[in-house]
Amino acid sequence: MIPAATIRATDFGKDFLWGVTIAAAQNEGAYTAGGRGPSVWDQFSQRKGKIKDGSRPSVACDFYHRYKDDLLLVKALGFTVFRFSISWSRILPDGTGKINLEGVAYYHRVIDECIKLGLVPFITLYHWDLPYALEKEGGWYTHKVLRWFSRFVTVCATEYGDKVKNWIILNEPMAFTSLGYMLGVHAPGKRGLEYFLPAVHHAAMAQAEGGRIIRSLVQAATIGTAFSCSEIVPASQHPKDVAAANRMDILLNRLFIEPSLGMGYPNDPFPLMEKLYLHNKAWKYTDQLRFDFDFIGLQNYFPVTVKYNAVIPIIQAVEVKAATRKVPYTAMGWEVNADSFYRMVKRFAAYENVKQVIVTENGAFYKDKLVNGRIDDVQRTAYFEQYLTALLRAKKEGVKVNGYFAWTLMDNFEWSEGYHARFGLVHVDFDTQLRTVKQSGHRFREFLSR
Ligand code: BGC
Repeated sequence: MIPAATIRATDFGKDFLWGVTIAAAQNEGAYTAGGRGPSVWDQFSQRKGKIKDGSRPSVACDFYHRYKDDLLLVKALGFTVFRFSISWSRILPDGTGKINLEGVAYYHRVIDECIKLGLVPFITLYHWDLPYALEKEGGWYTHKVLRWFSRFVTVCATEYGDKVKNWIILNEPMAFTSLGYMLGVHAPGKRGLEYFLPAVHHAAMAQAEGGRIIRSLVQAATIGTAFSCSEIVPASQHPKDVAAANRMDILLNRLFIEPSLGMGYPNDPFPLMEKLYLHNKAWKYTDQLRFDFDFIGLQNYFPVTVKYNAVIPIIQAVEVKAATRKVPYTAMGWEVNADSFYRMVKRFAAYENVKQVIVTENGAFYKDKLVNGRIDDVQRTAYFEQYLTALLRAKKEGVKVNGYFAWTLMDNFEWSEGYHARFGLVHVDFDTQLRTVKQSGHRFREFLSR
């Protein structure tokens, strides 16, 4: 049974943007087609034990070949915005140097198809798939990445700027720098502060510089960048837990948005920040880290409860997993808490220089059961209803939030989880590429039609 819908899309106002988000590395597949070069994910997924189900993104949902049908699905579900990312190594197979015209032509076809169907294309410039050739030269921890990224952004802006007005510079810089360059659980699998600290600074600089390039090359552009965020809750009111939660909050919620707004990196007494400043002489760069974004993309999935732990270097904090507390959680182990989402939307919108918030990702993995060709994904449907109800509450209170994009159109390559973690509104059979709309997808269609 699907719970009855209590809210309507029209309650959000007629200009509210309703979208669905995908990413190149997770959806396109066709990893060698049309002159594409390898990305860090192609390489990382070949390393033993890095992807939980041993899979690779080589085929994924084959969106590269099936984009026309998949865009028809987006349209049929009632969304009006399609957010997708550009694979850097399809455009520049070596990351820099020679442009791959076949790759350039491919995204023209995707964009043209969106426009033909009346879907507004939102381009994400970087959704975690650095060309492998650049990783070999130092990836995000060399300052050369700024030059490489600027070139890539320039090529994309020049090619697509006449047709595409909505641009997202980076997807979740905190996630790709921490998971990829500190913890080593995402590509490129590097571990340690000597990688993480420069990667953070270069990503923050690239984010602002990317914005400036789009502003100068694309007339009437609407420019944003997408931040992950999680409300941080101390496990107790003990001062050590409260301080641990504050450190985690700096890291997960403030590290990237504040410099982008012109506030510099958080300047709190926290050894990690001191090291960041020392390592990058970052105090010099406050102006370059700033860009006047037209909107902030907010991506929220779950809150994090945190307690003090002296053993963990630098952060001295650990997460208390949702499964050990009496709270609902998804198959990812992520706490379901729409009130916390509501508070994060309010908090990000309240920053002085934030003009507009768009929720550019939100969604859930639950184990789906295909029964007689149907998937009654009751829990995912309920998740979306709760989170949308919370968002409407914020909107009605006057919070400047102007869009909601669901994660994600269809089941896809969920990074180090592989294909088992399914977030889609549409089920994908990865053997046959058959798409089956889940009940959550049908519910979106009903919701968006009223
Ligand atoms: C990322 C997506 C990812 C989703 C679910 C977001 O952090 O942008 O690429 O699939 O979370 O894990």
